[in-house]
Amino acid sequence: SALDIVGLCGSLRAASLNRMALKLAASSMPQDMHMEVVEWRDVPPFDADVLAAHGLPPSVAALRERIRRADGVVIATPEYNFSIPGMLKNAIDWISRGEDQPFAHMPVAIVTATPGPRGGARVQYDLRKVLLFVNAMTLVKPEVFIGDAALKFDAAGQCTDEATRKFVTAQMDAFAKWIAAVKRMN
Ligand code: FNR
Repeated sequence: SALDIVGLCGSLRAASLNRMALKLAASSMPQDMHMEVVEWRDVPPFDADVLAAHGLPPSVAALRERIRRADGVVIATPEYNFSIPGMLKNAIDWISRGEDQPFAHMPVAIVTATPGPRGGARVQYDLRKVLLFVNAMTLVKPEVFIGDAALKFDAAGQCTDEATRKFVTAQMDAFAKWIAAVKRMN
C-alpha cells in the first residue's frame, strides 16, 4: 500500500521558498509515496497552564492525530537566526506533550532552503537534536540544503535547477528505503 507522508513547512508565508521545496519533495517521491502538506498555523503559543486546564487545543490534537497516522514526515524549514523558526519549534513542543509521542519511531526527512548561499546548514542540526528528544527516526543522508533558493524556483514555485531536483529525488528515494528499514525495526 502507498506510503502516507505528512509535509510540514517551517515557514507560514505564502511565497515561502521552503513551501516550494516541500512541493518539490512531494513531486520527487517514488510512485508509492504521497505527501499531504499539513497546515498548522492555528497552533497557539505553548502554555502548560492551558494544557493543564483545557487539555490539548483542537489544532494540536488534529496535528498530532495526522502525524500519528503517517508513515513518515518531511519537514522543510528556513533557518531563523541560525536555528529553528520559533513557531515550528512551538508546534513540535505542543505535539510532544500528549499521552503518547506521535513522533516516536517516526521516519522524518529534513529539507532546508534559504535565499542565502548556505541553504540552512545551521538549522538542520538544531532540528535533528530536537527530533532526537521526541524519539523520531530522522534520515541522516543524503542531506539537502538548498542555498540561493530564490534563484532555483520560478514564479510558479517550480524548481528550475536540475542539481536541486536530483538531490531531492535522491533524498526521497533514500527516505522510502529508510521508512521500510524503520518498519522492519519496529
Ligand atoms: C532569516 N533568514 C535567515 N537566513 C539564513 O540563511 N540564516 C539565518 O539565520 C536567517 N535568519 C533569519 C531570521 C528571521 C527572523 C527571518 C525572518 C529570516 C532569511 C531566511 O532564510 C529567508 O527569509 C527565507 O526566505 C525564509 O524562508 P521561506 O519563508 O522563504 O521559506
